[in-house]
Amino acid sequence: MSEPRDQRSENNVRRPAPTHRRPHTRARDLERYAGLFAERTRVMRSSAMRDLMEITARPEVISLAGGLPDTSTFPPQSFAAQMTRIAQESSAEALQYGPTEGYSETKECIRAVMRAEGMDPDPDDIIVTTGGQQAIDLVAKTLVDPGDVVIAEAPTYPGAVPVFSSYQAETLQVEVDSDGMRIDLLAALLDRLARDGRRPKFIYSVPSFQNPAGVTLSPDRRRQLIDICRERELLVVEDNPYGLLRYEGEPAEPLYKLDGGDYVLYVGTFSKILSPGIRLGWLCAPPPIMAKVVLGKQASDLCTSTLSQYFVNEYFGEGRWREYIDSLISVYRARRDVMLDSLERHFPAAASWSHPEGGLFLWATLPGYIDTTDLLARALRDNVAFVPGAAAYADGASGSSSMRLNFSGSTEDEIREGIRRIGHVVSEQVELYGSITGEHRTTSDEQRATSGDVLPFPPRAE
Ligand SMILES: Cc1ncc(COP(=O)(O)O)c(C=O)c1O
Repeated sequence: MSEPRDQRSENNVRRPAPTHRRPHTRARDLERYAGLFAERTRVMRSSAMRDLMEITARPEVISLAGGLPDTSTFPPQSFAAQMTRIAQESSAEALQYGPTEGYSETKECIRAVMRAEGMDPDPDDIIVTTGGQQAIDLVAKTLVDPGDVVIAEAPTYPGAVPVFSSYQAETLQVEVDSDGMRIDLLAALLDRLARDGRRPKFIYSVPSFQNPAGVTLSPDRRRQLIDICRERELLVVEDNPYGLLRYEGEPAEPLYKLDGGDYVLYVGTFSKILSPGIRLGWLCAPPPIMAKVVLGKQASDLCTSTLSQYFVNEYFGEGRWREYIDSLISVYRARRDVMLDSLERHFPAAASWSHPEGGLFLWATLPGYIDTTDLLARALRDNVAFVPGAAAYADGASGSSSMRLNFSGSTEDEIREGIRRIGHVVSEQVELYGSITGEHRTTSDEQRATSGDVLPFPPRAE
């Protein structure tokens, strides 16, 4: 059946049909449902990043907000060839339900990725999940009762905060510095909790090229963390989406390897080394925990997409997955360098930022009187976006002078222009503060010279 003409553009590309939008919810509508909501919805929080994604999808906005890998680097011809082979050779199986734990071929691909960082998990300790995000959710679903303590880094992955809050955990955060989580502060927190008779359910950490701060847990601190967990019999959830995206320095041993898989649960994903659209991640856990996780996953979604698993199996079968990661590394390294250089040129002297050795993000901190949530509203008027620091804290308030900046999802020119625009709105705030308080301005002459009016920037290709 042919589509109505107005759903096809001139060059015959499909456009989504116009959607019917419900008018804004009225107070009366809210009242109708309010009494039905579960207790846990009171503490559910929207992921700040998801909210931002809608705004930043506008083509005129330069978004340094998302965590998007650059999927345009994946050769479309390879994608077409792999999917064609699946259709020709395994159509019925690929379109079918699969085992809750995931296919053994996919587990072998996962083992290959983990071996590249020195780990060698037993296939029975692996479950294939719908992204790393589901793995975090399943761990929380399996372990957290309302009121339980979960420990995370400060700042932490903004997408983990709503997971912990939806299971009504009390999330306590431990500062990071340029060597990752401060283990001395962690030990002090654990002592304090022990005195109150409380025991955290787990410590959630992104030890390598952390999202959002871009910092990496040093080898010494990794060993200290494992020692603490073994002594006190505490679980760590190691979330490692970025370990293979290293642009400089020596690889650090994953916590899972150091511990041997007794106290460390491991979360991995294909999102940043292949594609987030296939929604494929995994969890490694010891058998007693895995048994409960499998039940939790059955209740959530029965199984992870069979088609996506077939795609990964096919792709890894070609044996060139390391080459693709190498190509990502050279693209992202160059973008990181452009971002670091642009920050140097356009941010005030009073600002500081991390120097990530890998991953997709860096973390910039501005003078304390600047609130980055307010600043974002101003920046969006100049068509540029970042993630305000408060999104990375469970209290929604700390980190208010910081921002997360992504360098993987924009071109080098977009990064230069995006940072210039943010630098411009920051300089405005610095000058405003200076003129109100009479304090010495921190904007250097060079920054003043380079941060004039916002230049028109060509919209990104859709
Ligand atoms: C630290 C961390 N964990 C988990 C995820 C979730 O990734 P996915 O569900 O796409 O595997 C992300 C995505 O940005 C992340 O940065």
